[in-house]
Amino acid sequence: MGFQRTKFFSFFLIFFLVVLLMMMIQIPLSGKEIINLPQIEQNDNDLISAIISRKAERQFSGEPIPMEDLAKVLWAGCGIKRTQVDSISHATRTIPSAMGIYPIGVYVFSLRVNDLSPGIYLYLPEKHALQEISGEDVTETLSKITNQRVVQNASLVFVIAFHLEKSSRMNEKFAYLEAGEVVQNISLMAVDCGLGSYVIGSYRPDRIIEVLNQENIEPIVLMAVGKPLP
Ligand SMILES: Cc1cc2nc3c(=O)[nH]c(=O)nc-3n(C[C@H](O)[C@H](O)[C@H](O)COP(=O)(O)O)c2cc1C
Repeated sequence: MGFQRTKFFSFFLIFFLVVLLMMMIQIPLSGKEIINLPQIEQNDNDLISAIISRKAERQFSGEPIPMEDLAKVLWAGCGIKRTQVDSISHATRTIPSAMGIYPIGVYVFSLRVNDLSPGIYLYLPEKHALQEISGEDVTETLSKITNQRVVQNASLVFVIAFHLEKSSRMNEKFAYLEAGEVVQNISLMAVDCGLGSYVIGSYRPDRIIEVLNQENIEPIVLMAVGKPLP
């Protein structure tokens, strides 16, 4: 009986050691090889640095930001990079879009932007301009929409919205995908401008539709952008 138990424990120990060895030299138990990829090194590459530095920044200093920074983040989000339409890919913008429909619109709640009155605006990518929608007190409006006090220290808040008049021409799920592209481009460009941002999924869509006075939109997500606290 004692001999049987010793044999069992020896077998178990050897098995355990073999598995440990395989894990140490990274042979997967399925027998398929694992190929290690080259490590990502932080260097002077702006994109790698921006990706590493991006994080949800919720502590804003409350300082105004230059209009140039607003222009850069909006352009990165869904701006026009080329006016000549490529007949194959429709590649005119900073983000890809299914069939070149570009169903996403970006509304700007300006709180503290130099040379731009507080208010609500729509970004017009084709003109690289802002269309004024309302000059009402955005701070008050935002606290009703988001229930998050920290946004009041942001310099601006974007509403990333699906323009529903474009929905009949496309698979609707692509609109959500494209909203994600806009969010990512804005957050990376914000880092490049020395700004912080965070995504806000918790908001009142009915209030946004009311404030923007637009029936034919579906708000997808909000983003607060501003100077981070030092
Ligand atoms: C769709 C979406 C909705 C989010 N909603 C909120 C939100 O309402 N409030 C908030 O403080 N953070 C929100 N976040 C931010 C996440 O909490 C944050 O991205 C996550 O913790 C990962 O941290 P990181 O962005 O710093 O990598 C949201 C993020 C996403 C992608």
